[in-house]
Amino acid sequence: MSEVVIIDEIPCESGDGVIAKVTINRPDKLNALNQDVGSALKEMCEWAENNDSVRCVVITGAGPNPPPEGKRAKPNAFVAGADITEFVGKGSEYILELFTDNAIEAIWNLSKPTIAMVDGFALGGGCEVACSCDIRIASTRAIFGTPEIKLGLIPGYGGTQRLVNLVGYGKAMEMMMTGNNVGAEEAHRLGIANQLCTPEELLDTTMSLAQTIAGKSMHTLRVAKKTIRAALDNSLTDGVKIEALAFANLFDTEDKEIGVKAFLDRSEPKWVHK
Ligand code: COA
Repeated sequence: MSEVVIIDEIPCESGDGVIAKVTINRPDKLNALNQDVGSALKEMCEWAENNDSVRCVVITGAGPNPPPEGKRAKPNAFVAGADITEFVGKGSEYILELFTDNAIEAIWNLSKPTIAMVDGFALGGGCEVACSCDIRIASTRAIFGTPEIKLGLIPGYGGTQRLVNLVGYGKAMEMMMTGNNVGAEEAHRLGIANQLCTPEELLDTTMSLAQTIAGKSMHTLRVAKKTIRAALDNSLTDGVKIEALAFANLFDTEDKEIGVKAFLDRSEPKWVHK
C-alpha cells in the first residue's frame, strides 16, 4: 500500500536546512482525510517541529492517477474533506475523540512557517487544512468551500473560526450556510488565497515563496508567527504590548546583530537561528 502522506525534503537555497514538502496521497479519494492520513499528518508535525533542519512546511495534495481504460479521470484535489465514509452511523462521543487533538490543530500549532499549495478541490476538512496553514498559494483551478451543511453538519476542524479571520463574518456565514463553493479568483479576492497562478506555475511559485521564507532567521520567524497569532486571540491594546515585548527580546539575539550588521556591510546575513 502506498504511503498516505509523503514527505520530500527540499534543500534550502540559502544554505543548510530543508523545506518539507508534504503530499497528502489518496488521489483516488481526492485526498480525503481518513484516520490514517490524520495520524500521518500528526506524526509529520511532530517530526517537523522537532527537526531543526526543517525551516518551512509546504502541504499539498497528490495529483490524480491516470484513469483506468474507459474510465473518466478523477479531478485535481488538494483535499476534498474529511473522509465521509468514516461518519456513517457515528455518534458524538466517537467524533469528539476523533476531532479532539486532531491533525489540523497540529498543523496550526507548528511554530514553523506553513504554506498550503492548492490545486483543485479544497473542501470541508481540505479548506480547513488550507486555513490552518499560514499562507495559501492556489492554482486557477482551485475550488474552496465548506459544504458540510449539505451533510447536515458544520465544519469541525476549526473552519468556523479560522475562515472568519480570512474572509470576514458575512462571507463566512454565506459559505457555511449555503455550502456553495468559491472559485480560485474569488478566493484570491476574498483573501483565502494569498497568490494565484496557473497549475503549471504552482510548484515554482510556492517553492520560491517557501525559499524566500526559509532564508530568514528561524528564531525570528517563530517570534513573528507567534506575535502575529497574538492578534487573533487578544485585544489590540494587549496585542501591541505583546509585540513590544517580542520586539525588545529580539534585541538580545545573535540573529538581530547578524541581520543589522549584514545590512550595514551590504552582505548576506548568515543566521545562527538563535
Ligand atoms: N470522503 C470520502 N470520499 C470522497 C470524498 C470525501 N470527502 N470526496 C471524494 N471522495 C471520493 C468519492 O467517493 C469517489 O470515490 P469512488 O471513485 O471510489 O466512488 C472519488 O473520491 C472521486 O470523487 P467523485 O465524487 O467521483 O468526483 P467528482 O468529480 O464527481 O466530484 C467533488 C468531486 C469534490 C465535487 C465530490 O467528490 C464531493 O462533493 N466530495 C465531497 C466533498 C465534501 O462534502 N467534503 C466535506 C466533507 S465533511
